[in-house]
Amino acid sequence: MAPNIICRKSWELAGLQTTPESAFLNRRQLIAGMGAIASIGSLGGLSATSAMAAEDPSAGLYPFKRNEAFVLDRDMTPEDVNSTYNNFYEFGSHKQISKAAQKLRIRPWTLMIDGLVDKPVELGIDDLIAKMPLEERLYRHRCVEAWSMTIPWSGFSLKSLVEFAKPLSGAKYVRFETFVDKSMASGQGQSWYPWPYVEGLTMAEARNDLAFMVTGAYGKPLAKQFGSPLRLALPWKYGFKSIKSIVKISFTDTAPKSFWQEVSPGEYGFYANVNPKVNHKRWSQASERVLHSGERVPTLLFNGYGEQVAGLYKGMEDQKIWY
Ligand code: MTE
Repeated sequence: MAPNIICRKSWELAGLQTTPESAFLNRRQLIAGMGAIASIGSLGGLSATSAMAAEDPSAGLYPFKRNEAFVLDRDMTPEDVNSTYNNFYEFGSHKQISKAAQKLRIRPWTLMIDGLVDKPVELGIDDLIAKMPLEERLYRHRCVEAWSMTIPWSGFSLKSLVEFAKPLSGAKYVRFETFVDKSMASGQGQSWYPWPYVEGLTMAEARNDLAFMVTGAYGKPLAKQFGSPLRLALPWKYGFKSIKSIVKISFTDTAPKSFWQEVSPGEYGFYANVNPKVNHKRWSQASERVLHSGERVPTLLFNGYGEQVAGLYKGMEDQKIWY
């Protein structure tokens, strides 16, 4: 880990290797231009941009303005590396699912918000995006399997969605659920897995500023293999907590049991906060392999975001909050 030269908080990563905003703006102008060309209609066939816009009407909103409080001190993972090495068990229990994931149908896509809320609501993903404060953040991602990446996510804070949902005072947890549809997700034919993929957070975690609802990456709508059109990013927790392709968010008074807790309760817990000193039952968590360089670097407590989140767990350090 490079030292912090400009006195940033440990979780504020310097944006050295990332795309500067001017480039993003140029790309936005370019895309707008391409859209105009495509709409002339004399070129024959759909351009890549208009094909993307046809399936994902939010495409024209990108890139979102970067929030400079969240930047990187290590190289950003190149998009082609990130988008070809994914965990998305709905499409297979290996890393090369990017092709299979293209079967995911992302429109229409609705999100149900229910449970202990003022009024349950179901809304389309584009209506939701239109209501939320959109931004880009550069985040680390540490998988429980001891590899890591750095990604420019686009989206909105989970806390703004919690505010929108108006949870009742009895709500103590948030439960997230992924779609179930075997016809597009062949992995869901593997009946020994407890579909749907489920994850959970405490209300305090969900209201923490770092918890981020992701709709895009690399300055455009999420590629399907990243968990389009809506996923979580929780950079202080192991990656399996960052649930993909969410269709339902429920506010509850009991801790939801997550997919991996169901699969292997002795190895995967509810909290799964990153801690280099607490090993997985089958391997060390002391270091991680940076995916694009192959370099091994020491793993940081809370993946380097302790200043932001350690307070959530004060007095709980000897409890099961590390796996
Ligand atoms: N969400 C769903 N629905 N299904 C999954 O298999 N895998 C998790 C998480 N979210 C998973 C999921 C795991 S183990 C990790 S490490 C990250 O997604 C991987 O995200 P990435 O493919 O964007 O790197």
